[in-house]
Amino acid sequence: ANKVRLGLVGCGVVGSGVLRVLADRQGAWDGAQLEATHIAVRHLERPRPDFVPRHLLTDDWRIVCEADDVDIVIEVMGGIDVAHDVVRHALENGKSVVTANKALMALHGEELRDLASKRGLFLRHEASVLGGIPVLHTLHTYFDLNRVQSLRGIVNGTCNYILTQMHATGAAFASALQEAQALGYAEPDPAADVEGLDAYYKLQILLQALRVDTRLLATECVADGQSPNEMARNGVPTAVLTKPRAGISAITAAQMEAAKASGAKVKHVASAVWGDDGIVRCEVGPQVLQPDDPLYFVDGVNNAIAITGDVVGTITLIGPGAGALPTASAVLEDVLQMVRESSRNA
Ligand code: HSE
Repeated sequence: ANKVRLGLVGCGVVGSGVLRVLADRQGAWDGAQLEATHIAVRHLERPRPDFVPRHLLTDDWRIVCEADDVDIVIEVMGGIDVAHDVVRHALENGKSVVTANKALMALHGEELRDLASKRGLFLRHEASVLGGIPVLHTLHTYFDLNRVQSLRGIVNGTCNYILTQMHATGAAFASALQEAQALGYAEPDPAADVEGLDAYYKLQILLQALRVDTRLLATECVADGQSPNEMARNGVPTAVLTKPRAGISAITAAQMEAAKASGAKVKHVASAVWGDDGIVRCEVGPQVLQPDDPLYFVDGVNNAIAITGDVVGTITLIGPGAGALPTASAVLEDVLQMVRESSRNA
């Protein structure tokens, strides 16, 4: 089988998940033998599970990006600035990259994709949005005929877990958040989840996959009174917010109760609607959903995305949006797909 050597940068929830899957399957898949050869971590001395091969650890990520015995760099360290250096350095050293980093891809995706394509390398990031759900694969490989008219998603597992618990048991926001953190769903700083920033980044990545200009969205520009024609440049659809981004930390038990009493649910939703004027109007915040909504039954840590195309109608993908194994699954599916594509091109 084709031997593929992986260099990991980061060994937290997602990195450990990747190593666990490699250990369980002994790296063997149809047509590929995957092997981790270097793993960069911040703290060499930290206790780690048995499936993390200690002799591969280094605290210098440059070693991973430069090593001759690394074919693909997997960036799972999170954060923005150092991760940006890591991915750039890996690509500059001729390594294809798989990353799970949504903030990085939301803010620097365009530049990094350009760099990768100039060098004939792959840069894949399915794991950066919706955990284990193959939404980028779907958007890239299916929507050729169809014009996408709208996206609506439950894209943050931590928010969905908290709202599900609050709805079902009347749990307080703080205790539901603690549970989500204990289960490994939340970001290191859970404010990014509960204030809607994580969902906002994911929406930007989804729109980039559909070739929407997200530069105004990145500045949290709210469209009030601006001329749509000024915003839609060169025929490229441009995304704007129609109201400020919101999270869930201000939702009260009384609001949850009122929704429940009327047979509805409060969910945190990210949405984008394509207008004929070239503007893609976006919202990120809580919504009250009725049972006829495809997102109504999406509970717990699950994520979902409802994509409406002009020919097909609405397709909804539902699945695990966070957690070690679903995210590791997305990372390794990207790796295997890259291996398959590069052997086809060879
Ligand atoms: N903190 C994120 C979530 C992790 O809760 O959805 C997956 O992106």
